[in-house]
Amino acid sequence: MSNKPKKSQKYNIAVVGASGMVGSHLLFLLEKRKFPLGEVKLFNSGKEKTAINFLNKKYICKAPTLKELKKSDIVFFVSSEKVSERFAKKLSAAGICCIDETSQFRLDKNIPLIIPEINAKAIGLKKLISGPNCSLTGAAVALHEVHKEFKIRELRISTYQAVSGAGKAAIEQFNKELKAYCKTGKTPDIKSKVFPRAIALNLFPEVGAFDKDGHSSEENKIELELKKIWKTPALRVSSTTVRVPVLRGHALSVWVKTDKEWTIKKIEKLLLKTKGLKYFKNPYNYPTPLDAPKNLEVMASRLRKSKISTKEFQIWIVSDNLYKGAALNTVQIAEHIIKK
Ligand SMILES: NC(=O)c1ccc[n+]([C@@H]2O[C@H](COP(=O)([O-])OP(=O)(O)OC[C@H]3O[C@@H](n4cnc5c(N)ncnc54)[C@H](OP(=O)(O)O)[C@@H]3O)[C@@H](O)[C@H]2O)c1
Repeated sequence: MSNKPKKSQKYNIAVVGASGMVGSHLLFLLEKRKFPLGEVKLFNSGKEKTAINFLNKKYICKAPTLKELKKSDIVFFVSSEKVSERFAKKLSAAGICCIDETSQFRLDKNIPLIIPEINAKAIGLKKLISGPNCSLTGAAVALHEVHKEFKIRELRISTYQAVSGAGKAAIEQFNKELKAYCKTGKTPDIKSKVFPRAIALNLFPEVGAFDKDGHSSEENKIELELKKIWKTPALRVSSTTVRVPVLRGHALSVWVKTDKEWTIKKIEKLLLKTKGLKYFKNPYNYPTPLDAPKNLEVMASRLRKSKISTKEFQIWIVSDNLYKGAALNTVQIAEHIIKK
C-alpha cells in the first residue's frame, strides 16, 4: 500500500473476527464514517457459516488463510491473540498494514500502541499497529492533557467493566442468567466457561488470571499499557478491575496524584480542551454506561479534590468498550494511516 494515497484511492480490507462484538462494530463504523473501501473480506473461526450483510452485500465468513489475507491493503485483527500471532507479523513484513486489537503485540517495544488523540505520530511508517485494552482507554484519553501539564505520578483506579468486554459468549451467558432469574426468581447458578462466577445480579473482582502477587492480568494491562502510551515508565498505577452486570460501557473511579500543583479550575480547563473527551462540569450530569454507546467520545465528571492528599484529585470516567475501547480506536488508526 502506498503511503501517499490519491484522493480517490480505495482500500481492500479484511476483518478477522468480523462475526464478533468488536468486528460487527468495526463494520458499522467503517460504513458510517465512509471509509474508502475497495474489496472487503470477512473472516471468522470457520466453525460456523456466519452470513453478514455489509453495504448491501451478503458475505459468508470463513477461516482466514495467509494467501487470502495477503490480497488486502489493511487487515483488522479483532479475534484472538493466537490468530494475530499466526498472521500479523508475516503480513506486515509483506507490506500489508495490520491493525491489531488483541493484546498480542501491545507491549512489544517495536510495535506502536496507539490511541490517535494521544500518540498518532508513533505510527510513523509502521505496518503493524496495536490498539490498547478497553478498560484503560477512558483514563488514557481523559487524563492525557492533565498529565502533560501537571505530570501525573500515581493513579489508583477501580473499574466497573461491562459484560460485552468479554465478547459475544459473555453476553449470551449474561442473558441466560437473567432469563433464568426472571423465570425462577432465584439468583442463577449456571456453570459457565466465560466467567468465574454468575454475572447477572452480581459482580466480581476477577478480570483475567491473577499473577503470583494477586494482581489480575487486566490490572497489569492497565498499568503497562498506560505507561507505554503516555511514555512514562515511572508512572505508578494500581487498580482493582471488577466485572459488573452492565451490557456495555466501562466506568472508572480514578484517584490522580500529580507532581505539580494544580487547581480544580485549571484541571477543568484542560479537561474541556482534551481531544476525544466530553467533560461534564455539573456533577449531577455524570455519565453512566447507558450513555456510553450514544457517545463516541470518552466522558468524565465528578472532578473533585481528594480528601487524602493536596496533590490528589478524583474523577469519574465512562467510555464505550466497543467503540472507543476497540472498534472506533481501530478505525481512527486506519483513518490516520490513509491520510498520512
Ligand atoms: N469486547 C471488547 O470490548 C473488546 C475491547 C478491546 C479489545 N477487545 C479484543 O478484541 C478481540 C475480539 O473481541 P470480541 O469481544 O469481539 O470477541 P468475540 O465477540 O468473542 O468475537 C471473536 C471473533 O473472533 C473470531 N474467531 C475466533 N477464533 C478465530 C480463528 N481461529 N480464526 C478467525 N477468527 C476467529 C470469532 O469467530 P466465530 O464467530 O466463528 O466464533 C469472532 O468473530 C479480542 O482479542 C478482545 O480481547 C475486545
